[in-house]
Amino acid sequence: MDNRNAATTSFQEEESVIGRSLSERERYGKEGTGYLGRVVLSKGERPVLGRKILIDLAKPHMILICGKRGYGKSYTMAVLIEEFARLPVALQNRIAVIVIDTVGIFWSLKTPNKFETNILQEWGLKAEATNARVLVPQGLLTFYKDRGIPADGTFTIKASELTGTEWMALFKLTWKDPEGILIHRAVEDLKEKLGTYFGIDEIISAVENYKEFDFNTRQALVNRLKMAKSWGVIEKTGTKTKDIARAGSITIIDVSAYRQSIEMEGVRDVIVALLGKRLFEERMLYRKEEEAKLMTENVRTSEMPLVWLFIDEAHIFMPKSGKNIALSVLLEWARVGRQPGLSLVLATQMPERLHTDFLSQCDIFISHRLTAGPDIDAVGTLRPTYLYQSIEKYYADIPTGKGFAIVLDDNSEKLWMIRVRPRLSWDAGTTASAFRK
Ligand SMILES: Nc1ncnc2c1ncn2[C@@H]1O[C@H](COP(=O)(O)OP(=O)(O)O)[C@@H](O)[C@H]1O
Ligand SMILES: [Mg+2]
Repeated sequence: MDNRNAATTSFQEEESVIGRSLSERERYGKEGTGYLGRVVLSKGERPVLGRKILIDLAKPHMILICGKRGYGKSYTMAVLIEEFARLPVALQNRIAVIVIDTVGIFWSLKTPNKFETNILQEWGLKAEATNARVLVPQGLLTFYKDRGIPADGTFTIKASELTGTEWMALFKLTWKDPEGILIHRAVEDLKEKLGTYFGIDEIISAVENYKEFDFNTRQALVNRLKMAKSWGVIEKTGTKTKDIARAGSITIIDVSAYRQSIEMEGVRDVIVALLGKRLFEERMLYRKEEEAKLMTENVRTSEMPLVWLFIDEAHIFMPKSGKNIALSVLLEWARVGRQPGLSLVLATQMPERLHTDFLSQCDIFISHRLTAGPDIDAVGTLRPTYLYQSIEKYYADIPTGKGFAIVLDDNSEKLWMIRVRPRLSWDAGTTASAFRK
């Protein structure tokens, strides 16, 4: 027997559940959990691994994944996403998973991991595709097809749903800019005149008619609006929230096309802001309906599923300093989202640049290797009372390989050093360059 097999057989059968209090662990056991990884028992590059760590997926959580670039944040996110697809059907049907993909790597969840069969075998796992839907901006379908990204559908944002302020944010304009004042006035006037059915063309014609603004201002704004048209996502009609947050589905919103230039970055922000806002409002409404049903029929059902929103590179949308149109929406999720059934899983390589409110609200913290002082200090501000030594000391003990992490769980009040399990689906993170032209 070679060493690899020995490693498999020596794995402990014991399991621990994170994300649950003692009473929840006693009540639910391991039902509704996902397989995150195994405990690290020794030091060195290939440490001895112990018991399985299962993570609660049945109730809402605020999860932060951080670590240096290249140490496994996106990978760990993908592992969590895979686990949603492996929950029992009855539970899956109560949950909608939405992934905001800024890099364009999560589509490969749909393909089995054919490159790491050895590692999977060591872990007693098999390569498996994850049933996910990839949605791309409607007007950019060919951009994605050209890059080999398999889109299952498209999405749009309804033009009239954007407020004047959101249009300003989209173009990074302020009240000091005449263009900012003009776009705000134009869309608010259009809403009064046309109601909710108008697109960018109608805004362009409207803008051209504001003769009290000078020609150059109007022209500059028209140019921006034409550019916005080429983003292929703001249309007269928009994708319905219930088509994005679909129960039992994992939906990947691929916005990686907007990584191309700084001018386009505002689109991602607006997509996250609008989606986050609508999900929040609808979940609040349904939560009331659920409560009412629970009282009259004694069952917990509603048409709207619990929502898990995954955002990689989250410091973009939730910066500590600086503005982002999605910030206030995401902060609202972080502060009160759990009550109506909203969960966030954020990843960042720079916890120091992430808004501190998320750090203080997160109940499960997964950190891969970090070396920058300010980032470790930011994590240090969590200061859970259940640690025996300072957080820096734990960081020093994380094995140098990839996929190792410390996990702080406020629910069980425990800290674990773990190795995240290998992915069942293919990791496009390392090979994505092959798909870029
Ligand atoms: N748990 C893991 N097991 C095995 N390999 C891993 C694991 N986590 C990360 N890796 C490897 O490290 C690479 C970088 O991980 P990735 O998640 O893309 O880093 P990050 O998002 O933190 O920049 C992956 O492509 C994979 O090869
Ligand atoms: Mg990454």
